[in-house]
Amino acid sequence: MSTVRVFAPASIANLGCGFDIIGLALDEVGDVLEMSATEGEGISIANDTDIPLPEDPEKNVITPVIRKFLEITGKRAHIDVRIERKISPGSGIGSSAASSAAAAYGMNLLFDCPLTEEDVVLCAMEGENLASGGYHADNAGPAVMGGIVLIRGYEPLDLIKIPVPGNFYCAVIHPDIVVSTKEARSILPREIPLHDAIRQWGNVGGMVAGLYSGNMELVGRAMKDIVAEPYRKQFIPGFDELRKQLLAAGALAMNIAGSGPSVFALADHYETAYRARKIMNAHFDALGIGYESYAIKITNKGAREL
Ligand code: HSE
Repeated sequence: MSTVRVFAPASIANLGCGFDIIGLALDEVGDVLEMSATEGEGISIANDTDIPLPEDPEKNVITPVIRKFLEITGKRAHIDVRIERKISPGSGIGSSAASSAAAAYGMNLLFDCPLTEEDVVLCAMEGENLASGGYHADNAGPAVMGGIVLIRGYEPLDLIKIPVPGNFYCAVIHPDIVVSTKEARSILPREIPLHDAIRQWGNVGGMVAGLYSGNMELVGRAMKDIVAEPYRKQFIPGFDELRKQLLAAGALAMNIAGSGPSVFALADHYETAYRARKIMNAHFDALGIGYESYAIKITNKGAREL
């Protein structure tokens, strides 16, 4: 029998303009799994956290990830998974992706790393599909690879690691509101008018240019979303007012994290991120909504063995 303990970080998908094609890892927050492989077949899942999670393998996002790994590699084993630490589901900071990425990374470790990083992400995407009804990699990619990951294409999967500027900070708040990614995806229009698409891809290009040149002001200027935010911000009480306050306090941008309800503010100094976090806390305090919040420097660390 072999056993591994793995960590995979939370993540912020979309980064404003990059719906389904860009995301970053939030290294200080994440999931921890212990995984063991023994002879036989089947999957058992035990939940050691206080968060209610499905232990029925057919309902847990970890299962399709393990199955995909076994299918691609042709391996055979019984896999036991113990969930030790878990980000709350429905948070918008890649809860399902953190479990899926940790499971995919852990499987690869258990079997002496037969898969490339890209194929590990491909396995993790199976969990995302179960959770949200779509094969998106903008949480799973950074949760496996760390840092900022661009999904240049899905067919075939083409992942590009983008350099993280040395002064890239985020304040993130996860209010105690549950938004299902499935629902937040289902309310989006299926078509985008050409003039909106032009603005959106101009911003994506601007953001990537800003990341490569370390121009945080450009990154912030480009972090605008006219595709998903107009439909999703209704789930976040006082969204426009909060953004106004954050920008006035020096944040370079403020957006929904993934499908929400978490939001994040971009900053080029820790002090600004810290100030933004306090503003976010005060906003949800005033609404009587509980939360967890962070002020974080973005690094390159992704999934890893503990
Ligand atoms: N790109 C996905 C979405 C991320 O916005 O629906 C979900 O966290």
